[in-house]
Amino acid sequence: MKSYYEHMNLPQPVLPSLQHLALLKGQTALVTGANSGIGRAIALALGRAGANVVVNYVAKPEDAEAVAAELRAAGVGAITLMADVSDETQVQAMFAAAVKKFGTVDILASNAGLERNAPFHEMSVAQWDQVMNVNLRGAFLCAREAVREYLRRGVRPEVSVSAGKIIFTSSVHEIIPWAGHVNYAASKGGLMLLMKSLAQEVAEKRIRVNSIGPGAIRTPINTAAWGTPEAYAELMKLVPYKRIGEVDEIGRAAVWLASDFSDYVIGTTLFIDGGMTLYPGFETGG
Ligand code: BGC
Repeated sequence: MKSYYEHMNLPQPVLPSLQHLALLKGQTALVTGANSGIGRAIALALGRAGANVVVNYVAKPEDAEAVAAELRAAGVGAITLMADVSDETQVQAMFAAAVKKFGTVDILASNAGLERNAPFHEMSVAQWDQVMNVNLRGAFLCAREAVREYLRRGVRPEVSVSAGKIIFTSSVHEIIPWAGHVNYAASKGGLMLLMKSLAQEVAEKRIRVNSIGPGAIRTPINTAAWGTPEAYAELMKLVPYKRIGEVDEIGRAAVWLASDFSDYVIGTTLFIDGGMTLYPGFETGG
């Protein structure tokens, strides 16, 4: 798939390679929902930055395996582990397997998430529950296992000054209300205070908890919003920077948040949204 830059013939940013920086050498990252979209990009970026990676998935094992193969080719350790993040037993088994394989987990990218959209009066309990279970309960269960592991292990100064990092994939919709997506926005709003409260609670243990808040990023979850020229033009009314985001832009931010470059960053959501959270309606009005 061509990037937006290629598509529009725009100059592309010139960036140092993540391999070259090796910011996460000797650490292990566990990324949930790592077989597609933003999770895949986070897994690949953390691996390119030197971390071993646990590629979690719940469906399409072949996609997870392809991510792991790409990571191994980049010279880091990688395994795939199936687990439904909303299932306590499966999450615990996944962390146990990760620790058995790599010795510990240093970075959790709690990324697995989904949308089940419906007008509110038609929203089923199943749609509500599925979104809450994956987006919020799953974040709780994975973060709890990560915190337990970080507390058990403590700081390993040879790889990082912090005892561990948690990075949630949230959304601009942790603060932007979203009609027709009440379950999703509620899950992300909940995730915001899960993240901040947890960050406050475990900071003294030298555990750093933050979120990334993506805006419109080109992934399968929102193909309807960018898949046709008309939809894309509509979407751009919401994006001051006038382009859709690419998953690699999220991956690079995850590397920074996971590394000691961001050691004083605690309890923050880093919005990566081309300005979507800046009330774009006020560009021309107000
Ligand atoms: C949603 C996407 C949406 C974007 C901006 C994300 O959290 O998953 O479907 O395009 O927010 O509204």
